[in-house]
Amino acid sequence: MFPILYLLFATVLCNGEFTRPPPGKMILTRHSKSSSYPQQVHISAVGTDHMRVSWITTDKRVPSIVEYGTYSGTYDLTATGEHTSYRYFSYVSGKIHHVNIGPLLPDTVYYYRCGRVGDEFNFKTPPAVVPIEFVVAGDLGQTEWTASTLYHVNQSDYDMLLLPGDLSYADTQQPLWDAFGRFVEPYARKRPWMVTQGNHEVEAFPVLHDLHPFAAYNSRWPMPYQESGSPSNLYNSFNVAAAIHVIMLGSYTDFDSNSAQYNWVVADLAKVDRSKTPWLIVLLHVPWYNTNLAHQGEGESMRKAMEDLLYKARVDVVFSGHVHAYERFMRIYNNKADPCGPMYITIGDGGNREGLALEFEKDHKSAHLSVFHEASFGHGRLKVINGSSAHWSWHRNDDSVSTMRDELWLESLSSSSACKVGSHFVASADHYEL
Ligand SMILES: [Fe+2]
Repeated sequence: MFPILYLLFATVLCNGEFTRPPPGKMILTRHSKSSSYPQQVHISAVGTDHMRVSWITTDKRVPSIVEYGTYSGTYDLTATGEHTSYRYFSYVSGKIHHVNIGPLLPDTVYYYRCGRVGDEFNFKTPPAVVPIEFVVAGDLGQTEWTASTLYHVNQSDYDMLLLPGDLSYADTQQPLWDAFGRFVEPYARKRPWMVTQGNHEVEAFPVLHDLHPFAAYNSRWPMPYQESGSPSNLYNSFNVAAAIHVIMLGSYTDFDSNSAQYNWVVADLAKVDRSKTPWLIVLLHVPWYNTNLAHQGEGESMRKAMEDLLYKARVDVVFSGHVHAYERFMRIYNNKADPCGPMYITIGDGGNREGLALEFEKDHKSAHLSVFHEASFGHGRLKVINGSSAHWSWHRNDDSVSTMRDELWLESLSSSSACKVGSHFVASADHYEL
């Protein structure tokens, strides 16, 4: 029965309306070491001075321990964490280890070893203050194009990777989650990868009523939701370099004004002191503004539910994925250009196996708000220089060369005299005060 159900689900996931160019070949990264050797190692930020180290072993006896320190081969510190595993029909995951380590010094290289076995790895913590550089890459997958994107990402240093959904494209084939973990490990074990979920993370079986939704995603890629007061791993927030508050929203969970997510966003925004944290960045999967033929209108219900909230809180940038292309809009509120609205960027062009979304609609009602778009694989970089100034650039994969095709300087809305808000966003029952 499993193959039939899989085919049904794959049909639901694949959008057959759009003609895409031939995608890159899948790269299946295998594990060739012992069952106790740590595989799929990746790190994610927890608070401003801790890091979660995650890895998987097929040997269930390996302890969830990370040894670490600031000198190679010398581990002054040890942390013990937790482990989990999950079942997905006949698939049983390996032992998934999650260990929080810290407090850590900012902008410092740490050397670490997982489970007391295997090689030493290292990562660099983000700086305590700006400047800081983010890489933004969505809809990654694990193809030759993804390899090209990550190769380019790695060509110049950065502090943190932000991923607005669609990671492995396993699409219920759980071993592909393992292959993806191995594929991204050389990058994700060196810098924190902060992700939110896309449609390819849901993996619920519609026939069997929401069986296993987000089982792999939540088990393998926990984000700091408890630390941000969120009830769900599907939406959370964190501060980076003191000046930036990042909110990860969930396009595939409830978002209406009575929902847990909506209420959490209101509470989270109220905690942000813009005099200390001038930048506010949001990531979500399904774009609210999009002139590409692909996925038209899919983000509209969430936009209607939450756009007011983000606008009144003076969110600076909203990154989304889902559409396999790059598109940058001007600052927008409610379908109109607005100097106090967020800048919307779609960056779902990481390299997945479905290929590119080629067609943009010239006559789209938002076409006059779209500043730049191109259907090419690539990645973006956001350099936050100080409390008021940041530089955004988009880098296209031209085969082996990374070419910057779009860039601009951004001024934070909290430093704009025309858009300035009070130091705190205040929500009341009926309205939002600035
Ligand atoms: Fe998607």
